Amino acid sequence: MPWREQLIQQHRNRVAAKTWRQRHATQSPVGRELKIKGRTYLNFCSNDYLGLANHPALSAAAIEATTDRGTGAAASHLICGHQDIHQELENELAAHTGAEKAIAFSTGYMANLAIPQTFLKRGDLVLQDRLNHASLVEAGRYCEANLKRYRHLDFAHAQNILLKSSANKKLLTTDGVFSMDGDQAPLRELTEICRQTETLLLVDDAHGFGVLGKTGAGSLEQHGISVGAGVLMLGTLGKAAGSFGAFIAGDAVYIDSLLQQARSYIYTTALPPAVVAASRAAIHIFQTEPERREKLNSNINYFRQAVAKLHYPTVDSKTAIQPVLLGDSKTAIQATQLLQQQGIWITAIRPPTVPDGTARIRITISCEHRQSDLDQLIDVLGSDAMLALAGGGQ
Ligand SMILES: Cc1ncc(COP(=O)(O)O)c(C=O)c1O
Repeated sequence: MPWREQLIQQHRNRVAAKTWRQRHATQSPVGRELKIKGRTYLNFCSNDYLGLANHPALSAAAIEATTDRGTGAAASHLICGHQDIHQELENELAAHTGAEKAIAFSTGYMANLAIPQTFLKRGDLVLQDRLNHASLVEAGRYCEANLKRYRHLDFAHAQNILLKSSANKKLLTTDGVFSMDGDQAPLRELTEICRQTETLLLVDDAHGFGVLGKTGAGSLEQHGISVGAGVLMLGTLGKAAGSFGAFIAGDAVYIDSLLQQARSYIYTTALPPAVVAASRAAIHIFQTEPERREKLNSNINYFRQAVAKLHYPTVDSKTAIQPVLLGDSKTAIQATQLLQQQGIWITAIRPPTVPDGTARIRITISCEHRQSDLDQLIDVLGSDAMLALAGGGQ
């Protein structure tokens, strides 16, 4: 079949299977509310867990940096795009995560590509949790090393594979907080297994950075594990930090090697000054306003307790990501329509983003949500129409 006809056929199949994706242009900043097509909704699907994406301190920092430095870095880091503010951001990220050094990337996707591509060659192994984020999986697929996956959270399975492996170099990668499920990697066990088997551990903490741990340094801090020689951490700046970009923190030898060799770092324009300044303002807030994390946690607990009474099929998540599993894509879409009718915006997450049969609504909680917002969501989840749809009623 000619190329174009194939695409038309794929389009038809996706529409029929309810997996055709659509964008909805928002007409407001992202916050506890969103405006779409002139209507204001409560927003329960962004990753703005700490309410920083529209925070005046971040906006002011971005404006000041733009006035001072202009809009673009205008070159890659190794040409002349690396300004003193990029360096300061990296220093602050290293200090905040307790690492020797950090290196800032333009996106988390690009940062995830960097490690396997830079460090692994034919004959090496990259081992991944089966539910790792797409960018980690992609990174494993597109490097020369052998890619293997272990059952979700099953550290004994990971250990087994590592013990049997005769690979020259071994890398284990895991999300710290799983992006579509909200559950957390068994980091203590994985760290120990990696230590025993001389495997480098990379924790993608896109959804833990800023939110977890006493100072918001993330999942590793929460588990009392240091970022260091055998453990690298990746954080993103477009989620709890309310800005954009990402970083890898760790031992200076690894970070320096990334600077020398990582293609997704070298061959791209450095982050714009406004973004760098906003990220720095966010780190300052992580450090000085722990009450944001406290409020987030109390919102999560409130929601979890209420939703547990409704007996939905959920995942045991203690984080801001609270999925409600609905099975097929059609049901997930119907659920979002029902929520939208009641003034709540949540998008359906469908295969191939999640495995077949696990389409869901991915609810995300923010410290900005008020108790009345949570109650409104819980009321809709508890309505007969919603329970009937989910088959989750008692
Ligand atoms: C676990 C995880 N890693 C990496 C990324 C990619 O980060 P970015 O959006 O900065 O590319 C995301 C989300 O986008 C994510 O959820």
